[in-house]
Amino acid sequence: MSTPLFLRALQGEVTETKPVWLMRQAGRYLPEYREVRKRFTNFLDFVADAEAAATVTVQPVNRFGLDAAILFSDILVTLPPMGIDLKFISGMGPVVERPIQSESSIKALTNFDCEKVLPFTKLAIEKTKRKLPPATPLLGFVGGPLTLASYAIEGKSSKDLQETKKLFYREPFAYEALLTHIANITGEYLALQAKWGCDALVIMDSWAGHLSIADYRQMALPYTQIVLDKVRKGTNAPVLHYANGAGHLLNEIETLNFSAIGLDWRTDLATTLQTHPTTVFQGNLDPAMLFAPAETIQTRTREIMDLLKGRAHIMNLGHGVLPQTPIEGVQAFIDAVRGNFL
Ligand code: CP3
Repeated sequence: MSTPLFLRALQGEVTETKPVWLMRQAGRYLPEYREVRKRFTNFLDFVADAEAAATVTVQPVNRFGLDAAILFSDILVTLPPMGIDLKFISGMGPVVERPIQSESSIKALTNFDCEKVLPFTKLAIEKTKRKLPPATPLLGFVGGPLTLASYAIEGKSSKDLQETKKLFYREPFAYEALLTHIANITGEYLALQAKWGCDALVIMDSWAGHLSIADYRQMALPYTQIVLDKVRKGTNAPVLHYANGAGHLLNEIETLNFSAIGLDWRTDLATTLQTHPTTVFQGNLDPAMLFAPAETIQTRTREIMDLLKGRAHIMNLGHGVLPQTPIEGVQAFIDAVRGNFL
């Protein structure tokens, strides 16, 4: 079997058509997802049900014929086994009732064996591989240590990472202990996902864009490096990176030698391709663009495609699909990537 388009692009190959997948491609904009979602009150129970997770993972692949699947799970699944009381509250998203605010709560965090504590991930990967078309690569993923720590410290999605930065500036050793703990578990978990059958891996450090370059170097990069070291010791799987609003951090992120780097939609693609001539990027249509008329979506997508002539690239949005997105918008985007215009 020839190497799938997505994996070829990750190797730096200029493919004839660009591979396309979408962040949050399994989600509430799909009626077939909402049908399965209804069976679970608690989001974490849904993720822990390997059969349900495998079912929704393949839904968007079957509907749109995407070039990659991403395992249905969440970056936050490793927090509860560390002793962090995470809940998903409908309408609010993830909430940690007792966020980490002191050195003693960091010392109290537990270590665990991912293989024993998160067995549903292995099972979901195996089930997904059986359901997917054989040529469709499966992506595994984790959160970047900075992003995971931000949920543990802030207790929710944060607009400014105030508490996270406060801990770093006031108690740097406590911050280091927390991030090292998270990074070690995250690296082990990501390497296992490759061992269990994932063909490529993503580190989603969504909130890294809140950091200055100098802070990124100290607050995030060394811990992402720990994750990568563990993965590269255990597997040859290509690793991608995504951070939202992190165009200013590209030079730093590049030092980590990812196979591809995701760009959010605020980062100007034309300029970035010029200033980073050899990097493989992924992205970066604004997810809100999928609400536009199909012709507009296709024009904008074609503008992106025109910039990519002679470049290895992975087509995607600049962040996850928004829950209210019309399916026709998603279809118009994918059609345009494949050269099928209205
Ligand atoms: O299709 C896929 O992309 C795979 C599944 C996936 C989910 N979350 C499912 C999910 C992936 C890769 C994630 C990653 C994730 N989770 C990130 C990093 C990427 C990003 O979006 O920046 C972050 C920051 C989280 C944390 C998280 N999980 C939040 C903030 C929320 C609530 C927001 C929301 O959309 O409701 C979640 C819940 C979540 N994770 C949902 C899904 C489909 C929605 C829950 C539901 O269906 O009830």
